[in-house]
Amino acid sequence: MSADSNGRPFSGQVAIVTGAGSGIGRATAVAFARAGAHVLGVGRREGPLKETASAHEGIDILAMDICGDGAPATVVSTAVERWGRLDHLINNAGATAVMPLEETDKQTVVDLLSLNVVAPSLLAHEALPHLRRTSGTIINLSSTYGHRPMAGGAHYAATKAAVEQMTRSWALELAGEGIRVNCVAPGPTRTDVMLHAGLSSEAANDMYAYERDRIPTHHIASAEEMAYWVLRMADPAGRHATGQVITVDGGLELI
Ligand SMILES: NC(=O)c1ccc[n+]([C@@H]2O[C@H](COP(=O)([O-])OP(=O)(O)OC[C@H]3O[C@@H](n4cnc5c(N)ncnc54)[C@H](OP(=O)(O)O)[C@@H]3O)[C@@H](O)[C@H]2O)c1
Repeated sequence: MSADSNGRPFSGQVAIVTGAGSGIGRATAVAFARAGAHVLGVGRREGPLKETASAHEGIDILAMDICGDGAPATVVSTAVERWGRLDHLINNAGATAVMPLEETDKQTVVDLLSLNVVAPSLLAHEALPHLRRTSGTIINLSSTYGHRPMAGGAHYAATKAAVEQMTRSWALELAGEGIRVNCVAPGPTRTDVMLHAGLSSEAANDMYAYERDRIPTHHIASAEEMAYWVLRMADPAGRHATGQVITVDGGLELI
């Protein structure tokens, strides 16, 4: 499919964006819609999703816990029933946890795996027959800490390492069918992710200040800067790239 007369590369295409009620997911949903796509934005809370949808008429929403039984099938069928096709699955919903080994507890490990690894796997599984028809793409969200160690965040880092290996393995498995699988690995990005992990605003601000000092460019990214790369990896014009993890972190992974 080529760009329409307004130069919108995703015109007529359909994208599912999980975690679309905030942060990187919201910015990605809006960017896809502006680039011509129909977008199904998914998250648990309806209020934030409605705010995302109010940014562009191309965004519809589905309030759902993607870890729930049967949820991945419902997410995919909702998009396909609404628009008749699926071109892009953006596995963006995710969570982090500050959890040193001394404080490690089973439920936190299980919850991280369920949201960051199991749900994207089952969403990709459900999306597969539809992506075969459109030569579609899967974009997974990892982190700099998917390939760097993270003291105090081993299980978050482990889930993102899993995401990166799923990306490469699925890419190899599906390349012959024309489906591309890529990954965007953000560095510290200004969103509410740390608040959602239970940190106070003050603690989150301290963390961002610490990271800004360490990042070679001394810049904390915006959600829109991440959405830019998600769209680039999904863009039909970039069809020769698959199985790649593009790290967008101002050089943090280099130190
Ligand atoms: N911000 C960073 O510094 C950073 C760095 C590296 C990687 N990342 C990754 O980037 C992705 C987006 O993060 P973000 O920073 O934009 O964080 P965020 O603002 O906390 O967004 C996460 C989104 O996921 C949704 N979500 C959480 N649990 C869900 C569930 N069970 N079912 C459906 N939706 C669920 C949340 O909405 P509800 O609560 O309404 O469900 C929320 O909108 C994540 O995968 C994260 O690990 C972020």
